[in-house]
Parts: sequence; C-alpha cells; structure tokens
Amino acid sequence: MERTFAMIKPDGVRRGLTPEILARIQRKGYRVVGLKQMVIARETAEAHYGEHSERPFFGELVDFITGGPVVAIALEGENAIAGWRGMMGATNPASAAPGTIRADFATTMGENVTHGSDSSESAARELGLFFAEGELLA
Ligand code: PPS
Repeated sequence: MERTFAMIKPDGVRRGLTPEILARIQRKGYRVVGLKQMVIARETAEAHYGEHSERPFFGELVDFITGGPVVAIALEGENAIAGWRGMMGATNPASAAPGTIRADFATTMGENVTHGSDSSESAARELGLFFAEGELLA
C-alpha cells in the first residue's frame, strides 16, 4: 500500500471538474484518506514547488496555484504514486495519452488540471505540507 498526494488545481476547480476527477479516483479503487478544498498560502506553494524555483515559469506557477481554491487529496492504494500519475497523463497535455485526465481536459502545460507526487519521498513531503497528521484517516 502506498500513499500519495493529489491535487485538483485552480483551473480544474474553477471549471467544475472536481466531481469528475473524484469519480475517476473512486472508480479506480483508490481510498481517499484526506480531502479538503483550500486556497494555498504563497509560502506553502513556494515550498511545494521549491525544486522548480530556478525555472523561468516559477513565479507564474506560484501565482496560478495560489490564485483560487484547489482540492487537496491524500490517496491510498497499491502502487498509488505511479498509478495516479498514469491517470493524470503527461505534464504537457499535448503529449498525454488518450483517456488520461490531462488529455481529456487540458490544453496547456501551465493549466493542466491536476498534480501528483512523483516519488515516495515527494509524496511524504507533500502530504506533510498539506495535511496535519490528524486530518488523515488511519
Ligand atoms: S520536470 O521537472 O521537467 O518534470 O517539471 P515538469 O513536471 O515539467 O513541471 C513541473 C511543474 O511545473 C508546471 N509547469 C509549468 N507551469 C507554468 N508554465 C509552464 N511553462 C510550465 N511548465 C511546467 C507543471 O505543470 C508542473 O506542475 P505539477 O503540479 O508538478 O504537475
């Protein structure tokens, strides 16, 4: 069993995609062990995307992710880290496989609807950034 951090980004929430994405997660069989809608504080966003701080789009990325409510989700399931990344599809929606969330609902790299941790280290770090221990189901 693995846990991972998933997020519906502000574009996904604004466009009313939350029910569709939660339905996909539940149909897949992952257990939702934490779920909340929130506006991300700037410091939290900068920490979350810290590894990209030197990239030219960093400021734009932080502005975007703090610019409206997101849905933060803690997922549990077998192979959930890679599995959720697979359900999202490639970062660039133009390269995402048909049937993935990004292929189905996104057109740009910046506004690509969802986020998912890319490793077990990232998952632990990101879950800790967005959820207090008591907020997650045992
Ligand atoms: S990496 O390290 O190359 O794999 O980075 P990548 O996964 O491509 O991107 C990291 C996150 O930055 C977002 N991104 C962008 N935002 C705004 N503008 C541009 N051009 C851009 N390119 C990438 C991308 O959506 C990734 O966000 P997350 O939340 O991790 O999916």
